[in-house]
Amino acid sequence: MKVTLIATTKFGLEMVVKQEIQALGFEEIVVSDGRIEFEATLADIPKANLWLRCADRVLLKIAEFPAHTFDDLFEQTTALPWEEWITQDGKFTVNAKSHKSALKSARSCQSIVKKAVVERLKSAYQIDWFPETGAEFTIQLALVRNSALLTLDTSGMGLHKRGYREEAGEAPLKETFAAGLVQLSFWQPDRLLLDPMCGSGTILIEAALIGRNIAPGLYRDFAAEGWPAIPAEAWAQAREEAQNAILPGGTLQLQGSDSDPASIEIARSNAAKAGVADDIQFEVKDVRKLWIDREYGIVITNPPYGIRLAEYQELNSIYIALNKMFRKKDGWSIYVLTADQKFPDFFKRARPDRVRKLYNGTIETNFYQYYGRKP
Ligand SMILES: C[S@@+](CC[C@H](N)C(=O)[O-])C[C@H]1O[C@@H](n2cnc3c(N)ncnc32)[C@H](O)[C@@H]1O
Repeated sequence: MKVTLIATTKFGLEMVVKQEIQALGFEEIVVSDGRIEFEATLADIPKANLWLRCADRVLLKIAEFPAHTFDDLFEQTTALPWEEWITQDGKFTVNAKSHKSALKSARSCQSIVKKAVVERLKSAYQIDWFPETGAEFTIQLALVRNSALLTLDTSGMGLHKRGYREEAGEAPLKETFAAGLVQLSFWQPDRLLLDPMCGSGTILIEAALIGRNIAPGLYRDFAAEGWPAIPAEAWAQAREEAQNAILPGGTLQLQGSDSDPASIEIARSNAAKAGVADDIQFEVKDVRKLWIDREYGIVITNPPYGIRLAEYQELNSIYIALNKMFRKKDGWSIYVLTADQKFPDFFKRARPDRVRKLYNGTIETNFYQYYGRKP
């Protein structure tokens, strides 16, 4: 059965997700803000959930239609074949968002959709009462400029929850976001990658998963695993394929350091849970004491943002140290994610080759990119 899937992502990372979707073999792909739509089959739902590294969720598109009034919304929602997906004992919730639309109240839209789906299921199953003891279904309504998009969330927990991070250090990056940073850099698995302020190690762990071709969702489960509409064999097969695709360890050059010993402990434990402990070397070290003796390499790092005053002063000295370290090392590519706009005033090897605006959660940050000479 043909379906339309939508991978959602953060503003600025759409192209990375598009490339990931292409790499999985999908062709008809439409990109818009925060949303990448592609044609697939039912059996592709497991594959997309297991493999997409940078997407937040995979949604199954049910319908899209204009909705200017509550009646429009109700009628068109009841007309949809919800019983094809939601089981008689299904437990379902509705989340709604409204943006620049006549129907402003997300809460009212939410209860209209819930009511409409209940109506539909009542008549489809000929029952009046739903036990809600079965699989979970989350319906999402996104109303944008009077166009209603109804989807079912196939992922459940956000895809950043890989299952390897029970412990987070200070201000950790989301796993999906860190995977995006690695993919925006020109890092390839045969190249040295260093994160000298690695915190809980997210960037390096995501690089290790990429380098070893480990599907990021391999060790977790997904909402749609409980849906009878998707054959259980499709999940089993996708998992088996992902398991067989893992490359042996021992070849990656991934190095992480941080001045905080507790963070390095956490990074080691997270890497072990992700199955990549032997692929990354972690050490406790102040970035200002780092010594670079290699001619070529890549740095991807996210320094503290300097929101507190003490940090603010320390930050300048970190920037100065980075500048000293890499000023004459033009074989190194440097990628720095920070909300602090004075970073390029200190890092003066050259002007950044590219500055991308990215949102780390709600914080607006810049990803400063300085390209190095290729080996
Ligand atoms: C924003 S956090 C990095 C978070 C990391 N990307 C993650 O996902 O967990 C910044 C890190 O810089 C570290 N740091 C601060 N000053 C440092 C210094 N002088 N040398 C090395 N690391 C430092 C902090 O301990 C913290 O872990």
